[in-house]
Amino acid sequence: MNCKRLAGLFVLTSALGIGLGAGAEPGAPPAAANTLVIHADQAGPVISRNVYGQFSEHLGHCIYEGLWVGEASPIPNTRGLRNDVIAALKKIRVPVLRWPGGCFADEYHWKDGVGPRAQRPTMINTHWGKVTENNHFGTHEFLDLCEQLGCEPYICGNVGSGSVQELQQWVEYITFDGVSPMADWRKKNGRDQPWKLSYLGIGNENWGCGGNMTAEYYADQFKRYATYARNFGDNRIFKIACGPNGADYHWTEVLMKEVGRRMNGLALHYYCGSGRRSRSATQFEEEDWFFQLKNALRMEELVAKHSAIMDQYDPEKRIALVVDEWGAWHAVEPGTNPGFLYQQNSLRDALVAGITLNIFNHHAARVRMANIAQMINVLQSMILTDKDKLVLTPTCHVFDMYSVHQDAKLLPTELKSADYVFGSEKIPALDASASRDNAGRLHVSLCNLDPNQAAEVACQLQGAMAQKVSGRILTAPVITAHNTFDHPETVKPADFNAFKTTDGGFTATLPAASIVVLEIE
Ligand code: AHR
Repeated sequence: MNCKRLAGLFVLTSALGIGLGAGAEPGAPPAAANTLVIHADQAGPVISRNVYGQFSEHLGHCIYEGLWVGEASPIPNTRGLRNDVIAALKKIRVPVLRWPGGCFADEYHWKDGVGPRAQRPTMINTHWGKVTENNHFGTHEFLDLCEQLGCEPYICGNVGSGSVQELQQWVEYITFDGVSPMADWRKKNGRDQPWKLSYLGIGNENWGCGGNMTAEYYADQFKRYATYARNFGDNRIFKIACGPNGADYHWTEVLMKEVGRRMNGLALHYYCGSGRRSRSATQFEEEDWFFQLKNALRMEELVAKHSAIMDQYDPEKRIALVVDEWGAWHAVEPGTNPGFLYQQNSLRDALVAGITLNIFNHHAARVRMANIAQMINVLQSMILTDKDKLVLTPTCHVFDMYSVHQDAKLLPTELKSADYVFGSEKIPALDASASRDNAGRLHVSLCNLDPNQAAEVACQLQGAMAQKVSGRILTAPVITAHNTFDHPETVKPADFNAFKTTDGGFTATLPAASIVVLEIE
């Protein structure tokens, strides 16, 4: 069923950007006949909390200034890590954090980042602005960050320009609980007990910045590096291979065939860009909105097709598909270093996050980790900082609202949606996923991608009753709405009450361009 955009009702507001259309106006008729069946009696696989993971690279102001200010900073910190940032990230329950890159990982030599900070050698961050990296944030600081956040560490090793021995020794340094050169060095550097190292990436984008390798060559390299990344004590390392770039299905085929179960996870990278062309995160038109969301929806096809290849070699789904880089990639903010990838974040980015996380939820059986790029001040971030100031992005609010899905059981859904039509193109206006948490509560995350029309959706609950429903919504009067240091609460969640229970479930009316998460008890 197609719901046409209401011509002429789309208004431009000069100061704030682009106004929402008819659906945003009180009393405007919602699009009809959207239905959602939730099979609450058919619990599916667990949605790993790690799907809500994060990524932090030595890039621009993600690490330095974003996370790390150093112990001597006037900005309140704990052992050099910003207290305000840690508190904000704890609220969204970061489950796992990937570090140190990205492209940086394949140039990083971990030994330069341990020991007394004043004596650590510097290096050039060749990928990201060719700035001098002082190595003040290294292994101890990263693992302290994970402990302060209460999340699991995911370290990406250097295959492109490092050695097998270097990676072997890094694992020994972190995890060996005995007498050895690396464990002794760790103790000398202030840490007696080994850490737990949960996840280890064997290189990053080795088809590109990580060495420009072929899939066949990388498969052999993976085997060499992974062989010597040993398990010590009761630490068990989950080894993640560099996976495909977007739709490179050949890469997945080769890795599954040649590496197979020697890897625990295969990493997919997909960035959904910035619409039809690279443009500002906040100065854009409806055309950019439409194509950005269309590009984001492409994640479904990529995950489904890579999963289908993986299914042929691994029908039991023992190997995880790990989408360890994803998100929007806009033009950098004017006046900032192009190598720092600093971009703002609007309601559009929130929709990108909402629909992508719904896709991951649906593929919970295979997609067991994902890491949005990146956590702070880089690409589609959770937080922007400016000296001692901090602002939460609309994307951060989506991660907060969707955190109810972490470790919940996926519930199968059947969604019939009107179309959101733009010119000669269309995409479904609605997007949804549902889960049941350990306490038996149901959560439904619904996105209305159409910036012009509200949408009424009739939800039928099979095998459950909607006795008590509550919800939160993220939306704004203009699609370019975003938070700034001067106006940090332009886009923030609010209570959602536009629903009513029915005999078989409930109906909800989603405003145009909105994200709603409902809790049903
Ligand atoms: O996230 C920014 C960069 O994008 C990463 O360093 C790299 O892996 C990818 O190309």
